Amino acid sequence: MRILVIGSGGREHALLHGLAGHELTVAPGNAGMHSLADVRPVDVQDPASVVALAREVDAEFVVIGPEIPLVAGVSDALREAGVAVFGPSQAAAQLEGSKAFAKDVMAAAGVLTASATQVAPGSGAADAAAALEAALEAALDEYGPTYVVKDDGLAGGKGVVVTPDREAAKAHAEAVLAAGNPVLFESFLEGPEVSLFCLVDGETVVPLLPAQDHKRAYDNDEGPNTGGMGAYCPLPWLPDDGVERIVAEIAEPVAREMVARGIPYQGLLYVGAAWGPFGPAVVEFNARFGDPETQPVLSMLDPSGPSLADALFATATGTLSSLPSLAWKPGFAATVVLASSGYPAGPKTGDVISAGDGASGGAAGGAALLDDPTRVLHAGTGRNEDGDYVSAGGRVLNVLGHGETLEAAVAAAYSVIEQIELPGSFYRKDIARPAIEGAIAVVPAEDTSAGDTSAGDTSAGDTSAEGE
Ligand code: GLY
Repeated sequence: MRILVIGSGGREHALLHGLAGHELTVAPGNAGMHSLADVRPVDVQDPASVVALAREVDAEFVVIGPEIPLVAGVSDALREAGVAVFGPSQAAAQLEGSKAFAKDVMAAAGVLTASATQVAPGSGAADAAAALEAALEAALDEYGPTYVVKDDGLAGGKGVVVTPDREAAKAHAEAVLAAGNPVLFESFLEGPEVSLFCLVDGETVVPLLPAQDHKRAYDNDEGPNTGGMGAYCPLPWLPDDGVERIVAEIAEPVAREMVARGIPYQGLLYVGAAWGPFGPAVVEFNARFGDPETQPVLSMLDPSGPSLADALFATATGTLSSLPSLAWKPGFAATVVLASSGYPAGPKTGDVISAGDGASGGAAGGAALLDDPTRVLHAGTGRNEDGDYVSAGGRVLNVLGHGETLEAAVAAAYSVIEQIELPGSFYRKDIARPAIEGAIAVVPAEDTSAGDTSAGDTSAGDTSAEGE
């Protein structure tokens, strides 16, 4: 099959690796993808450009990685042009694009989530400014501490602030409003977070392996929120029925509600949930695969079951309900993100990346490891005039490790990243450590006093953030 993948990060590199064997084009791609795909330029926000490229490469199937083209209506334009596409419609992608929309769907579907209130930008009149100030103070009084303040829209790297500091929370809210967006205040959700990716085709939901992301920049969950500094799967601490419950209590009711609204969801629904005293509660939805969780999750897909291409194509073409069960490899997978100096506030780019195995692509050498997508996926890389890989973004590389135990998988990933040199770069040294040390506790349901689990009624929290 001729497949066009839209996107340019580690998630898309993992998708390409999973789709290998097909005739692949990626746009706009990155420097590490040339061995897997024809790399083309495209404006991912422009539906007409993507349709034109799909026609030019005669794509039979388009897989959309990031949220920006989804919210821009690229999948709708491709469907209208008669091209099969993996990715929800613009209307359905509002589950990610508008947090207020997602809250409304969850309330209607009876899905547990944080309570929230939205404050919209004012008109600019003097009395409107006073009213806005009062609304902000009231929301801060109601929802914190801990304060959870979200940009109600695509976040572009500055979406969510979770802080005990009222002034910092207010400053973020004011910045969101100054940018012309509504701001959402939420109650703080207790409990460890799960990223569960679900293939959704109308009312059919097929979950992948549960994963956990590490969103803060530095060890021990310190520092600013990032797009994600590492991830692992599956989750040894999740209750045995954890995936089943997230599907039954969150993904399926939401899928049914979307069908009932006449905007059926067809694509990847990323359920970001916190497992609190009453079970899983939604922190956020995304309308696409998560990054970097996708990297370990897809690496665990076992070829004895349906291929990634079969699974995505079935989702896109309304046949997911007849797809045989997915098969997963035994053991665990982990990814560690190598970030450039200054990430996330001001990532430095243009520095040469090299690896200790000595094989040379450009002047700096190290091409063999850097060109092995079973161990290294490229997220933000380019090439310099000498042909060396150079940093071209905040999250530069994602290294992968696998093992029979989570500890072994993480050790394998660290043994790879230790061979890679990028001046000023850094990575977290504690990916999956709390899980390995047994420090992640899920409160058993029988230990909790019965509570009201209706939507919008929990104490709530969110440590999520988005962006590069
Ligand atoms: N890893 C978080 C995200 O993809 O949004």
